[in-house]
Amino acid sequence: MENTLETGIIDNIAEIRQEIKKFRDKNAIIGFVPTMGALHVGHESLIAKARQDCDIVIVSIFVNPTQFGPKEDFDKYPRQPEEDRKICTKQGVNLIFAPSPEEMYPQGMCYNDFTAIVPPKFYQDKLCGKSRIGHFNGVATVVLKLFNIINPDKAYFGQKDAQQLVIIKKMVQDLNIPVQIVPCPIVREPDGLACSSRNKYLSEESRKKAVSIYKALKKMKELYISGVDSVFRAIEESESLLHRDLEIEYFEVYDFETLMPVDKIKQNSLVAIAVKIDGVRLIDNLTI
Ligand code: PAJ
Repeated sequence: MENTLETGIIDNIAEIRQEIKKFRDKNAIIGFVPTMGALHVGHESLIAKARQDCDIVIVSIFVNPTQFGPKEDFDKYPRQPEEDRKICTKQGVNLIFAPSPEEMYPQGMCYNDFTAIVPPKFYQDKLCGKSRIGHFNGVATVVLKLFNIINPDKAYFGQKDAQQLVIIKKMVQDLNIPVQIVPCPIVREPDGLACSSRNKYLSEESRKKAVSIYKALKKMKELYISGVDSVFRAIEESESLLHRDLEIEYFEVYDFETLMPVDKIKQNSLVAIAVKIDGVRLIDNLTI
């Protein structure tokens, strides 16, 4: 049955804390899904999982300025609060937390006057961290702030952002944060393209070319199953399936738990890729 009661939106930290206290006083299990909005079926799958596991589901919608580089797409990142609210209502979300940048960073975005979380260099100096300098400081800092505001029992993260997931798990472990991180599988369009808020930027033509990303990832798995475990050989062969207009930023294999680079593919290897098409940066991955 469809939920008809519209999901409430709170933009203020004191108020969301008050509301959450009411749920806590009733011993409710609180599930949390942090997002930057422009919700799609990938986000919805996280919400649905939280709904299954928890009594109360809170979604945050916050385009976090500190995780965008100066030349990145912060200003043009898609924002669609009304549509997002409809999706949350449909998914039975109890509350949306949608703060302004000023609410989250009242002192401004100046890192000289702010305690930032800096995940270890080893986890940052590869994959997306290599080109997006400081990105994971911004992610870890805002996620810790959100955890401190919401105080959830469980928090849901997509494997689509595999490096983010590993870094958040590491932060939770290292800093003894009392939350359970629940990883959720990648949701794809019928043709295999991983759902992403940034897919909206793609022209029809680029959208078609982007389908080759998943083809190349699947080829890696097929090659491994057929006995090829050399990363070098498998990448060389799979890369040839990528549309030639895709500019490859990385196409690499790591251990999914530790982010150690591997030269032999094995169970639990993470094959990760980032490409640019017509200026749009897309990431995807697959675990073997
Ligand atoms: P955002 O890109 O909005 O993603 C929110 C969550 O949705 C992340 O955990 C992401 O991995 C997950 N997600 C995105 N696309 C997915 C897909 N196709 N399948 C499954 N899950 C998917 O990631 C962020 O926001 C931010 O960095 C955030 C954690 C909110 C901190 O600002």
